[in-house]
Amino acid sequence: MSKDLVTNDLAALVVLAAGQGTRMRSATPKVLHSVLGLPLIDHVLSAAAPTNPNSTLVVVGHQREQVEAHVTSKYSHAQAVVQDQQNGTGHAVSVALENLPDTTVGSVLVVAGDTPLLTTTDIAELISSSTGAAAAVLTAHLGNADGYGRIVRSANGDVEKIVEHRDASDAELAITEVNSGVYCFDLALLRSALSQLGTNNSQGEMYLTDVIEILRRDGQAIHAHVTSAENILGVNDRKQLAQVGKILRHRILDKWMLAGVTIQDPESTWIESTVCIDEDVTLLPNVRLTGETSVQSGAVIGPDCSLENTRVLENATVIKSTTNGAVIGENATVGPYAYLRPGTVLGTGAKAGGFVEIKNAQLGDGAKVPHLSYVGDAVIGEGSNIGAATIFVNYDGITKHQTIVGKHVRIGSDTMLVAPVTIGDGAYTAAGSVITEDVPAGAMGVGRARQRNILDWVLRRRPGSDSAKAAVAD
Ligand code: UD1
Ligand code: CA
Repeated sequence: MSKDLVTNDLAALVVLAAGQGTRMRSATPKVLHSVLGLPLIDHVLSAAAPTNPNSTLVVVGHQREQVEAHVTSKYSHAQAVVQDQQNGTGHAVSVALENLPDTTVGSVLVVAGDTPLLTTTDIAELISSSTGAAAAVLTAHLGNADGYGRIVRSANGDVEKIVEHRDASDAELAITEVNSGVYCFDLALLRSALSQLGTNNSQGEMYLTDVIEILRRDGQAIHAHVTSAENILGVNDRKQLAQVGKILRHRILDKWMLAGVTIQDPESTWIESTVCIDEDVTLLPNVRLTGETSVQSGAVIGPDCSLENTRVLENATVIKSTTNGAVIGENATVGPYAYLRPGTVLGTGAKAGGFVEIKNAQLGDGAKVPHLSYVGDAVIGEGSNIGAATIFVNYDGITKHQTIVGKHVRIGSDTMLVAPVTIGDGAYTAAGSVITEDVPAGAMGVGRARQRNILDWVLRRRPGSDSAKAAVAD
């Protein structure tokens, strides 16, 4: 994809997103449904971003508060334009253009908010094919063209008009070349054609597609750029959402494999569009990397991992684990069956082992929590070891409290560290202790009842039992 596409005369990008999206059957506006971690409209905006338009106008209508809030908070350069009544795509574009000064000249790129597979290359090629024409339209040949507008060409191949499916004759329905809904227009000519649009069609709407015929009648040239059927797929229902998701998923996997990432089983691997992966990372089967996750070189993830907003540093390994908002240090090891929650930071060579849950806690370099523990709201110094089944008792039912464990500490198995509490550098705790008071550096903290043995208890209280027999046998 050409990422450095800059056109000096792209006056505006118009994104159509005011429609109802009825077939999604959803309380969420269609263009805010996500594929591979990004709402549909974000895919479109990012494909078009390298065109560097002077203004970006997003036409909103149905559920406009949600769409507007999303778009304007995430894209500071975008402006939401309200189309109160959805009187058709031609009406939507003319409402958008009212926000450009009359003196503006140049080209206008129009895209629909529900075509997330559109590529920057498609857009760049469409824009260059518009040279010398009043309009260029992006088209594709579809096996099943149902629902799409058909591209009607003259005998010599010139684009004559676009006929909507519902308004098409039998001969026109046989045409396989369809309108993608993406166009590049000359602004002045588009304005003049829009002012002539009628509503004489099966839906009684102002069709943007009719602009093509109007321009032709005025003797203007119309160009078409043909792309692959896949790239123009629109999302109208949740089946199409999944279909588009599958295509996008494989595009992303192919990109990372070509960039040097080993993906053992692409069929079971999900990588969202927002993820970053270095060369020589290995992803084993059944791995999901989502949100702002990044993975550095040499790391091995999987099998069976789900990493959300997680940073994995060089040569770390993560096995059968779930993480969210964690940083996994260089050479650190995680899992199997670890659960790392937001605020977890593992230092270099640190370990979060089997059945370990960690939240809002930092483990220093080489610190280890190997087995069956909960660590919440803690700082653990370098080289310390947390014995099996230790619990950081961070919650008193009202507030969360912090535990500080110094360097090279040895916490005995099954210790309860009742926060707030501090264990000094080099200190130990005895297995099974409930530690409610600070343990000074170098001390052994013992917080448990002293053991006593009641001799011959079994012989007296369980006479004749297998245990009693075992106890007296030599
Ligand atoms: C449109 C095209 C059709 C093309 C198809 C490609 C028209 C008349 N038809 O049909 O030729 O093959 O896209 O997917 O343009 N919208 C508004 N305001 C409105 C109406 C629609 O903003 O008043 C937005 C919708 O939210 C959507 C886009 O415009 O993002 C396209 O509208 P939609 O109703 O989906 O058009 P199609 O019937 O798919
Ligand atoms: Ca559509």
